[in-house]
Amino acid sequence: MLSGSNVLLGITGSIAAYKAADLARRLMDEGAKVNVVMTDAACRFITPYTLESITGNAVHVDLFRDPYCHIHLAAESDLFIIAPATANTINKLSCGLADNLLSCLWLAYDGPALMAPAMNFRMYKNRTVQSNIKNFKKTGVEIIGPAKGSLACGEEGKGRMSEVSEIVEAAISVMSPHDLTGHKILVTAGPTREQIDPVRYISNRSSGKMGYALALAAKRRGADVTLVSGPCSVDPPHGVSIVYAETSDDMEKAVFKHLDKATAVIMSAAVSDFRADLNTKNKLDKNIVKSLKLNKTTDILKKLGSRKGKRFLIGFAAESGKNVKRASAKLKEKKLDLMVLNDISQEGAGFDTDTNIVTLIHKKGDVKDYPIMKKIEVAHIILDCLKKKKGSS
Ligand code: CTP
Repeated sequence: MLSGSNVLLGITGSIAAYKAADLARRLMDEGAKVNVVMTDAACRFITPYTLESITGNAVHVDLFRDPYCHIHLAAESDLFIIAPATANTINKLSCGLADNLLSCLWLAYDGPALMAPAMNFRMYKNRTVQSNIKNFKKTGVEIIGPAKGSLACGEEGKGRMSEVSEIVEAAISVMSPHDLTGHKILVTAGPTREQIDPVRYISNRSSGKMGYALALAAKRRGADVTLVSGPCSVDPPHGVSIVYAETSDDMEKAVFKHLDKATAVIMSAAVSDFRADLNTKNKLDKNIVKSLKLNKTTDILKKLGSRKGKRFLIGFAAESGKNVKRASAKLKEKKLDLMVLNDISQEGAGFDTDTNIVTLIHKKGDVKDYPIMKKIEVAHIILDCLKKKKGSS
């Protein structure tokens, strides 16, 4: 996701500096080339050699080693991340001081920037620090955290550097095209569970990975995302507002509660089509139950179709076989703008995988097949269709 980007990672003197090694690694996993600049204080907590070994690039510390390093490195960087950012560095940078290589680079740099503050909670509350952080936000610097929790000094409070995964996610979001800004997208994901008794339920096979990938991709592209999730064990994406729903009834209520503001709805949840005609408080004796009578649940997508207004409505059709005719009929019946057909009999398009194989069927009849892709890539091609319908509600 950061493929081809030159990330400049500034490390300052906080105990959280040791986490910067992992941060460098994770940024590289996302495809970034990472150059590191460290303050003298940072070198007391972690050695430049560690960062050199991880990134494969010389680490920059000394302002006077190369007369133009601060100019060249700033010019060739696409993103500047300072993590951890100490109170001293934040205050220094905010008034434009340039007394070490990192602060000179900051002055010479003019692109997207992120800071992850880390300090004792009292220092973080300090009015100078607060006012400087506010000013950075105003000028477009993304401030990540700090988080609340136990601090290195043994105290509790707001001052811990944010998790590495959160900083990486912020970096990806900053570097993504924000072509869905203005969209408010409602995504559903995962299965629903229809209880029979306290132990047993009816459900569908679904990991939720496709819906979570859609929510993440949409958020990265600047959309305001609400994810209505059935029970699944995928980590909630940073920056997405999440509502949990257990049953199809819960999901229906949550969807219609958030529908008003939505400009688009993506129903990727595998909503159970049936519920048992009974729902007992106590566990049923298997010797007494001879058969189960099933009732149909509400087809949420169909109901959405009848109230869609100008919203862009996307549904999924999981079929055994590439049944375009059946999926197209569902698209018409449910008044969708786009149907995502996946043939669950194909290897790589099944459940619980990180990949999917889809055919996109558009309202006007265009049908396009895609090869096996990662679910996050599938999410982007689905969202590309939405891009053309921006800003309606
Ligand atoms: N869906 C829904 N409410 C349900 C069942 C399904 O909103 N009670 C939605 C799913 O989220 C999906 C779409 O309908 O986007 C298609 O689901 P699918 O199970 O493939 O098709 P159905 O229309 O339910 O028909 P069938 O199960 O007979 O194939």
